[in-house]
Amino acid sequence: NRQPADLTAEFRAIFAAEPAALVRAPGRVNLIGEHTDYNDGFVLPMAIENDVRIALRPRSDRRVTLASADFDQQTTFGLDNLGHDDGSARWSNYVRGVAWAMMEKGLPIQGMDAVISGNVPIGAGLSSSAAMEVASAWAFQVASGFRMDPIDMALLCQKAENAWVGMRCGIMDQFISVVGQRDHCVLIDCRSLTYDAAPLPRGYSFVIVNSMVQRGLVDSAYNERRSQCEEGVRLLQRRLPGIKALRDVTPEQLDAFASILPPVTYRRCRHVVTENARVVSSVAALKAGRAAEFGQFMNASHDSLRDDYQVSRSELDTLVDIARATPGCLGSRLTGAGFGGCTVSLVQSKAVEAFVSHVSESYRRATGLTPDTYVSRAAAGAGQSYFTVLR
Ligand code: GLA
Repeated sequence: NRQPADLTAEFRAIFAAEPAALVRAPGRVNLIGEHTDYNDGFVLPMAIENDVRIALRPRSDRRVTLASADFDQQTTFGLDNLGHDDGSARWSNYVRGVAWAMMEKGLPIQGMDAVISGNVPIGAGLSSSAAMEVASAWAFQVASGFRMDPIDMALLCQKAENAWVGMRCGIMDQFISVVGQRDHCVLIDCRSLTYDAAPLPRGYSFVIVNSMVQRGLVDSAYNERRSQCEEGVRLLQRRLPGIKALRDVTPEQLDAFASILPPVTYRRCRHVVTENARVVSSVAALKAGRAAEFGQFMNASHDSLRDDYQVSRSELDTLVDIARATPGCLGSRLTGAGFGGCTVSLVQSKAVEAFVSHVSESYRRATGLTPDTYVSRAAAGAGQSYFTVLR
């Protein structure tokens, strides 16, 4: 895994000055609860150690100068004239989008000089975009001398992604990047926006394996799934007038009214409704120390994403099949939106090394692709890792 750049040194080299603060925001891996967040449901992600870092100093004017340590690029814009970058510095659109959302909310932001670096793999389903957004929001609040409510920050970053970047994502990724807790996963109720941390099972690790297939067509297929869920709610409301989202429908109710839904819509709804139930049950299993049962829920989650929600692809199924057949593995599933990216597997800690080499080798033999693997502790949410006096 790539190590984060020494941002203080980079900042000095680029701006010939000391940074005033260093902020960071983590990526995430979702353990279970996929495509439930935009249905007002439950998710169970953990923040990972891979993160986006920004070294910054405030400016007294309304200019923002951004340097990417990873892409060796620089771009600058005015807060009163944000614009989209359609050229080489597209990564800056996350920062521009967050600045836009902050000003929309009436927050008094000011300019800054900043160097950005990240080691969350891009396009792998580990929320590099959410990490960029949350790190940018932290950077602006530090540069501008105010402190936002954490939940408001997550919502604001989601709004930047929805309205500025154009991806209709739910709240999970930005939320966990803000509220992540060391050594804990977090159960998030995406309707009430309340959350509850649960300790990770002792003696087990969550191993992330990158299929190395970039998520193709993810935006359009994602938005299409969202519309299908909305259609399901509209049709079900004829019989269940009290429901507002698929969160409100039980598996039994869905079965009872299956005939009023087109077959594909029914399968999309069945994934969401059963997945919500799985999250609730799997958290109970986790808290009671029943790791094997948790692994079974992960398996059922993947199968439902593959068969009912149809967001898997052959490489992910291959990885999951290999993982499940490897000693020490209790469960395996795709994580994130799907269509490519990563799987997450629950593995006995003492078996992790053998697991990683066996899965890598078998996957390489099956597909010709060499996967990256990440074993991360659960990390804390966004914050300032170092802070000097602001000038
Ligand atoms: C992406 C979105 C999230 C969530 C997942 C699927 O990561 O950003 O909001 O919907 O897909 O669970």
